[in-house]
Amino acid sequence: MSRRKQIYEGKAKILYEGPEPGTLVQYFKDDATAFNAQKKATLDGKGVLNNRISEFVMLRLAEIGIPTHFIRRLNMREQLIKKVEIIPLEVICRNIAAGTMAKRLGMKEGEKLPRSIVEFCLKRDDLGDPLIAEEHIYAFGWAAQSEIDEIIAMTLRINDFLQGMFAGVGIRLVDFKIEFGRLPHPDGMGGHMVILADEISPDSCRLWDMETDKKLDKDRFRRDLGEVTEAYTEVATRLGILKPNPTAGATLSVGSSND
Ligand code: C5P
Repeated sequence: MSRRKQIYEGKAKILYEGPEPGTLVQYFKDDATAFNAQKKATLDGKGVLNNRISEFVMLRLAEIGIPTHFIRRLNMREQLIKKVEIIPLEVICRNIAAGTMAKRLGMKEGEKLPRSIVEFCLKRDDLGDPLIAEEHIYAFGWAAQSEIDEIIAMTLRINDFLQGMFAGVGIRLVDFKIEFGRLPHPDGMGGHMVILADEISPDSCRLWDMETDKKLDKDRFRRDLGEVTEAYTEVATRLGILKPNPTAGATLSVGSSND
């Protein structure tokens, strides 16, 4: 890793210069933070699990025609991605009341929403990623209206697909956060296209077991529920990424020697 130039270090990931122009290497750390980094820990193996789960999800989304930044997984903790200009928004999609929305609107966690809701937060750690209205996005030029139209349509398609994918393995998709980036359009006419970036993993989704409502996501860390990596392992196993190991929990199923 040290041989490569570091471009950016976030709370859970590091970006390095990629081997070819227009690419980056995304490295998944074991670090976990919550409440805007007021709470911190290192969770052994979390980065490996998120790398594998995010790879799996991005590949499934590409199969249904969602353009993503994912190119290929390089090893246990790294993936090669397309270099994009990140749109400074956290796009949240919710199916069931939980977290900050339940708190803000005085709702009981677990209440089914009348329909899926898309929210926008400004990506600004120093401000705690505040919730914003679409009006702010256009007035301050964070994204164009055509980009937001595309982002909302893509987010709802991603939500539909992921709800089905997780329901198939007995998991309820309560909510999730995604990010998008701009890439020069491949038609070479000077325009840009919007593609899915960042990651989709139990760090960025709320995932509840359908039978028991057991939390299988980062809320286990946020709320001190324990067994965080065990829960992420459970998600990976149910999705078929890891092979179940009856004696010692799941293990990483395959992996080339340079993993
Ligand atoms: O905390 P809140 O209820 O707003 O989170 C909604 C969803 O977005 C959750 O799945 C949470 O994990 C995710 N999220 C995230 N990164 C943030 C804020 C929220 O991945 N900075």
